[in-house]
Amino acid sequence: MTEQEIKQEMQSLADQLEKLDRAYHLEDSPLVSDAEYDALRRRSEELEARYPQWIPKNSLSKRVGFGVAQGFQKAEHAVPMLSLGDIFSDEEVVDFMDKIHRFLDLPNDAPIEIVAEPKIDGLGFSALYEKGRFVRGATRGDGVVGEDITANLKTIPEVPQVLQHDLLDAAEVPALLDVRGEVYMAKRDFLALNQAQAQKNDKMFANPRNAAAGSLRQLNPAITAERHLSVFAYALGAYEGVPFATHWDFLQHLKKWGFPVNPLIQVCHNVGEMLAFFHHIESIRSSLDYDIDGVVYKVNSFDLQKRLGFIARSPRWAIAHKFPAEQATTILKKIRIQVGRTGALTPVADLEPVNIGGVLVQHATLHNADEIVRKDIREGDTVVVQRAGDVIPQIVRVVVEQRPEGARPFQFPTTCPVCGAHAVKEGDDAVTYCMGGLTCPAQAMERLKHFVSKDAFDIEGLGDKNIEQLYKLGWIKNPTDIFTLEEKHSFDFLALGGWGQKSALKLFDAITQKKNLPLHRFLYALGIPEIGETTAKILAAHFKSWQNLLDVVRQETALEQLMQVDGIGATMAQEIKDFFDEPHNQVLLRDLCQYVVPQDYEENNQQRPLKGKTFVFTGTLSMPRDEAKAMVQSMGGKVSGSVSAKTAYVVVGDEPGSKYTQAQKLGVVILNENEFKKLLDEVKK
Ligand code: IVH
Repeated sequence: MTEQEIKQEMQSLADQLEKLDRAYHLEDSPLVSDAEYDALRRRSEELEARYPQWIPKNSLSKRVGFGVAQGFQKAEHAVPMLSLGDIFSDEEVVDFMDKIHRFLDLPNDAPIEIVAEPKIDGLGFSALYEKGRFVRGATRGDGVVGEDITANLKTIPEVPQVLQHDLLDAAEVPALLDVRGEVYMAKRDFLALNQAQAQKNDKMFANPRNAAAGSLRQLNPAITAERHLSVFAYALGAYEGVPFATHWDFLQHLKKWGFPVNPLIQVCHNVGEMLAFFHHIESIRSSLDYDIDGVVYKVNSFDLQKRLGFIARSPRWAIAHKFPAEQATTILKKIRIQVGRTGALTPVADLEPVNIGGVLVQHATLHNADEIVRKDIREGDTVVVQRAGDVIPQIVRVVVEQRPEGARPFQFPTTCPVCGAHAVKEGDDAVTYCMGGLTCPAQAMERLKHFVSKDAFDIEGLGDKNIEQLYKLGWIKNPTDIFTLEEKHSFDFLALGGWGQKSALKLFDAITQKKNLPLHRFLYALGIPEIGETTAKILAAHFKSWQNLLDVVRQETALEQLMQVDGIGATMAQEIKDFFDEPHNQVLLRDLCQYVVPQDYEENNQQRPLKGKTFVFTGTLSMPRDEAKAMVQSMGGKVSGSVSAKTAYVVVGDEPGSKYTQAQKLGVVILNENEFKKLLDEVKK
């Protein structure tokens, strides 16, 4: 690999891991399985070990976890909450112990006690006690600052409000104690919760860990209280007034103070005992009523822990030995295509049911068309299936030797199996999307919500809930139905729960008011992929009227003409063209425009505060260059590739080129990214 390629891969890994971490920690909804995440992380660590000089700024190795989600108070940890290094094989356990001996300058066979514990698959917490009273609860956050979840932790009965102690012996209560542990949801409680969620038509959780995280990180602690959460305590943060010589000793105290401590913990005296513990726990894993994803080994002596210290973000005295993903072999009967709410076509494998680690698996996700080609997966194949933390299993590989004669490569559909519209895979995107948009039943409800949302039609009284209600009744199945609602259903509303005559009339009125809508809002409402608010404005400003735009997209040279619009790139142009080429959309627009008349774009200076100003960009910005360009253009500014005396601003990112020096020479105003954003915010006002 060339230097450039290595740097690129390292940056791409850092970006991917950042995105995955965000989804996992802040949004409680993982995008990939734990096994895939671990593979990416390993690759990133490997490259960073070899090329430390090129470690990207946003690398995982430079942060411990993920920060504080919006809405929570910050809670600082006096002693950082660190994470653990991972190992996956028996040899690495030997290695771990060898390193400890070497570091302590002890012979390889010197006895060192290790406490082995199950690694609970939940969410780390810190519970702070002052003079024996619970005063503050926190999540791990980035390890230094977490989220204040005091009110939420208070609702978990297993977290003692007051440390239990012998009333006659006040000396037993530490002045300060920060107990760390894991909040988790028992499998039984998880199944019950998901059942209840399904009945209420509420969000289902992918696995107990996400359910625990979603339940604990609630701004409204009343919701946490309704969910059955449990805890195990296993580590010590800051403390004053209680000396412990060993981790084991500390765990025994935790029990006395009233904390649940995992009953399977054990002291090991050598690698043999550690491995025996690991394999025993692995064998009983599926019979436990809580998810675990490995075991943790910790040096028992606090003295030795202190001497061993930390490397980067994890202790040298502890390590997590992770279980391999659970796998089994079965037959793939059929590849089925599901259409999601966004229109994404996702292939799903229907499997001959197979038991993997105590769970009956009948389906696996195939992600997208590329994945099927890459792994050469065909109907009738024998496949290795893996469950890795998540409920949705995946196909690891095909056992090609067992492929039945005549099995053919899978033909990914070119039309949507739900509505029959074209299904298109565009640019580098691996995902195939249905072009039916508003007319496809699989997408309609979400698309309708977008259609009436604040920056689109903005119809008062038609929020998400009402769209759902009216969609399910079949009264609003597509946008045109909104405008015929009064004519077709005004009497029905009187009999409908939650609606009175007054509120129905108000709604009809709000709908009528929106029949003449500015062109850019109308374009945005259509939900054309890639066409956000900014691009919709650019299109409106360029074409001025709906008719002008229609005239262009109907021409053979539509693509070229669209690409000539400043701020419209090749992908956007293609998306626009695909949208207007789709016959389902043509019917929709014909019907809709009988009721709605998009208003010609009016150029007023309020919408074009940057008119006459030319911007030049140089260096790497944290936002995509195209987006920055589009923002300037949507406000009437121009973007140029070279600096001259006429340039109003040069926006400088990381590692700027010669344009930067040129700007300095000519005395052009230079902005960094933050200043640039501030400028846009200000002129918008
Ligand atoms: S000890 C400095 N013990 O695993 C060491 N962690 O990947 C502190 N975890 O952030 C952690 N079970 O949330 C420890 N028995 C256990 C654990 C455990 C689960 C979690 C914990 C930690 C993560 C590290």
